[in-house]
Amino acid sequence: MKYLINKPNLSNLEKKYVLNALKTTWLSSNGSNTKIFESKFSKITKNKYSLAVQSGTAALHLALKSLGVKKGNKVIVPNYTCVSNLSSVSQCGAKSILVDIEQDTFGLDYNLVLKAINKFRPKALQLVHVYGFPARDTIKIIKICKKRNIKIIEDTSESLGAKLNNKMVGTFGDINVTSIRSEKMIGVGEGAVISTKNKKIFENISLLASRSAPFRKSTDPYWKKYYVVGEGYNYLMPHLLGSVARAQIERFNTVLLKKKISVGKNYFRILKKNNLAFGQKLIKNSKPVFWLNSVLFNKNSKKEVRKIGEMLKKKGIEVRSGFWPLNLLKNFDMKYVTKKNITKRIFEKIIILPSSYDLKIKDINYIVKSIKK
Ligand SMILES: Cc1ncc(COP(=O)(O)O)c(C=O)c1O
Repeated sequence: MKYLINKPNLSNLEKKYVLNALKTTWLSSNGSNTKIFESKFSKITKNKYSLAVQSGTAALHLALKSLGVKKGNKVIVPNYTCVSNLSSVSQCGAKSILVDIEQDTFGLDYNLVLKAINKFRPKALQLVHVYGFPARDTIKIIKICKKRNIKIIEDTSESLGAKLNNKMVGTFGDINVTSIRSEKMIGVGEGAVISTKNKKIFENISLLASRSAPFRKSTDPYWKKYYVVGEGYNYLMPHLLGSVARAQIERFNTVLLKKKISVGKNYFRILKKNNLAFGQKLIKNSKPVFWLNSVLFNKNSKKEVRKIGEMLKKKGIEVRSGFWPLNLLKNFDMKYVTKKNITKRIFEKIIILPSSYDLKIKDINYIVKSIKK
């Protein structure tokens, strides 16, 4: 493929930190570069505590576990998102309540959330900011959840750096989860970060991620080190990936974020000029980061849209479909509570376009002209 969905952007800095980690011979978790990465991530995202882990899927699982989600509980999950949002709930033995999205930003629809809260009394809700766009109803959803004592996991895997009302996404809820697998806003291969302002929640997360073996001082007796306090997981990030993460976060504001926003704005303008619709809408008080750019074919059938996608692939343009509506997947404990089916319509009408950091105006012109054709 000539144009990839999102080609990683690496520099000599990533190389330098990886080599430096190799020199230390420390390869496992809690490496020095990983620790620096975590503290820089906290600074940028304005959540005091951050922990680097092995994937967004693991991070979501940990987040739910740390809040005590278990069998018999219900969790609200948007119907339009990565399957990890759904499977993390099943992994806790809980039931997902799937709620439809709104058409502007593809975030959870507040009115439908309210209905689901009243009917199912969930313990937690996952709020996802899709493709780099802050969810439109964020403030209202946070307010009702706080009132009803529902914990909020914000998922900024696709929207690191985006702002709503001048506030960074990922700081509205109780826990923030950010995947940093290679094609995300920053990428290390496979990995993620969990961040929070709440010390107690953070201690819980850290314990669960380290096999539930409490942290021991070097002065503690050696035979105490492996005493565990319950079921836990081995989810911490190894040092080589933490080293790549450190370089990526150091280059985030100065290079990566700027490039992403510039590519997104160019898509917005060029699609419009060619009478094509950008997938999502720009709304007031919101600063999206355009993780992935998309085109929505409101007037075409599902069959026609798929044909366009296949033709683009033949021209070396990598495309993705929208997320499969989660309610169509099998073998999960879930309930779909809305009849609006906006998710299904978007899934059938959208094509996700190459959105790499280094796409030039001429590349975007070529992609858009190819769609037109
Ligand atoms: C919104 C969202 N949450 C979670 C994940 C899962 O993250 P990972 O692939 O790192 O497990 C993804 C996709 O990667 C995602 O887009």
